[in-house]
Amino acid sequence: MRIDEIKSAFETEIAKCQTLQELQELKVKYLGKSGELTALLKSIKDIPAEERPSFGAKVNALRNEMEQQFAEKSEALKASDMQRRLREEKVDVSLTSCKSLGALHPVTLIENEICELMTSMGFEVLRGPEIETDYYNFKALNIPDDHPARDMQDTFYITDSILLRTHTSPMQARLMEKKKPPIKMVCPGKVFRSDSDASHSPVFHQIEALVVDKNITLCDLKGTLEYIASHLFGKDTKVRFRPSFFPFTEPSVEVDLTCSNCGGKGCSLCKGTGWIEVLGAGMVNPFVLENCGIDSKKYNGYAFGIGLERIAMIKYGIPDIRLFYENDQRFLKQFGK
Ligand code: DAH
Repeated sequence: MRIDEIKSAFETEIAKCQTLQELQELKVKYLGKSGELTALLKSIKDIPAEERPSFGAKVNALRNEMEQQFAEKSEALKASDMQRRLREEKVDVSLTSCKSLGALHPVTLIENEICELMTSMGFEVLRGPEIETDYYNFKALNIPDDHPARDMQDTFYITDSILLRTHTSPMQARLMEKKKPPIKMVCPGKVFRSDSDASHSPVFHQIEALVVDKNITLCDLKGTLEYIASHLFGKDTKVRFRPSFFPFTEPSVEVDLTCSNCGGKGCSLCKGTGWIEVLGAGMVNPFVLENCGIDSKKYNGYAFGIGLERIAMIKYGIPDIRLFYENDQRFLKQFGK
């Protein structure tokens, strides 16, 4: 009978199939629109009426069986194809032409060094958003609209009220809104300003530090900075405060360190002064505490913001800030550990 012939022909052919491509062709040959089994189904009209039900049932049974076999064979071929590829495409990972290993970027090295030091003094390390609101970047930090202090930082605005943060100080406000004193935190991260030359880059890195508690003084700030300076630049490094202005601190100071290059005698790095300016700091302005819901009669604190590139430039004698971002291997390799 025709059904049995088709069945045995199909079984011989599927057994010979070696590839998924051949299997697909076979499927078209038997089950496709003009396939053999389809033709058989169409021939049902030529069969005597009483035989039709049993004929139809047989053809359907064969179709189900074929479909099942196609599925099984397809799985088997896929599995053996995978085995073959694993065999043939094997990569010998012991054979390496990669002779140089990657290393941490100098800015990352400084960030890690300062964060480790601060954690050892009980500071928590937090990170804030790089896209910031005008409120946290300015208003909460006592820099209202139209305040001349906005000109200290050339800002990239996204909308009137959203911007790329110009400093890591917004984390001060974000944290104080959520957490009651005592607070000891540092926030490292990228900051953005529309500025570019040998000592300014549109993107650079800062670490913000904030302490809020009872009876904090400028001496606590100075002691902490002396400790950090001695770790970064050697234990004879001295710290000097000069009066300055930041809207979020009162009083505010600019902090200088004795020049690590000449030890304070005067050289080209420190322009003959023996001192290098490294960061801004001060006692947290009571307005900022109050803006964040902290009682300024009970609590006070200090804050500072360090530019990481600036520290790396002094520490490693790097003359141009743009070197950090050019990804020149000859530059980066010198810091490999
Ligand atoms: N946010 C300042 C800047 O980017 C740096 C700074 C100054 C941070 C004084 C402070 C601070 O926390 O107290 O220029």
